[in-house]
Amino acid sequence: MKTIAIISPSVRRGRNSHRVALFFKRYLEGNKLAAAEILDLKEYNFPLFDERLRHLPDPAPEVLQFAEKIRSADGVIIIAPEYNGGYPASLKNVIDLLTDEWRRKPVAISTVSDGVFGGTQVITALQFSLWKIRAWTVPAMYPVPSVNKTFDESGVPADVVAAEKRAAAFIGEMMWCIEAKERMNG
Ligand SMILES: Cc1cc2nc3c(=O)[nH]c(=O)nc-3n(C[C@H](O)[C@H](O)[C@H](O)COP(=O)(O)O)c2cc1C
Repeated sequence: MKTIAIISPSVRRGRNSHRVALFFKRYLEGNKLAAAEILDLKEYNFPLFDERLRHLPDPAPEVLQFAEKIRSADGVIIIAPEYNGGYPASLKNVIDLLTDEWRRKPVAISTVSDGVFGGTQVITALQFSLWKIRAWTVPAMYPVPSVNKTFDESGVPADVVAAEKRAAAFIGEMMWCIEAKERMNG
């Protein structure tokens, strides 16, 4: 069974993008595609980045735990809320924290917004940072527009059939990358 880490970055009070993280966890496990764990940055409550993990003399146990979860995951899904056309500082905080853990890691990005475009403007900035850190960004999108209407608080989509059809394509691309990587590694 593959393991997928789902990063839910919003630390905002009354956040809505976490609904999409709940959806993907349920989708992956319900369809027996992978064991999925949500890495909730609101729960981790990391301090503002001051140095990369590999240079920290005395890293906090939560930092080590987070790094190990990314390192050991077969793939990562990032739920990226759109804040003013970009992604939130909480997410950059953990991208910069790690180094080798990201290398060649299949990372699929689902963007989320209140608006009708589903946060698609976030993609280029986030992909570029992930590319710089040598992650393997999965060439698939899962934009979620009007999140407070399209998903309920427990992550159930308003249109289950449509949401799951898109999820099948999105997750399928990530699984392809994971399998391709496994074959390369022998
Ligand atoms: C600082 C800030 C900026 C935002 N900018 C945009 C935006 O440019 N376009 C948009 O559609 N939604 C925008 N939103 C709404 C978020 O996309 C919305 O809150 C969404 O649910 C994802 O973030 P959340 O998980 O923090 O709720 C913004 C929200 C915040 C807090």
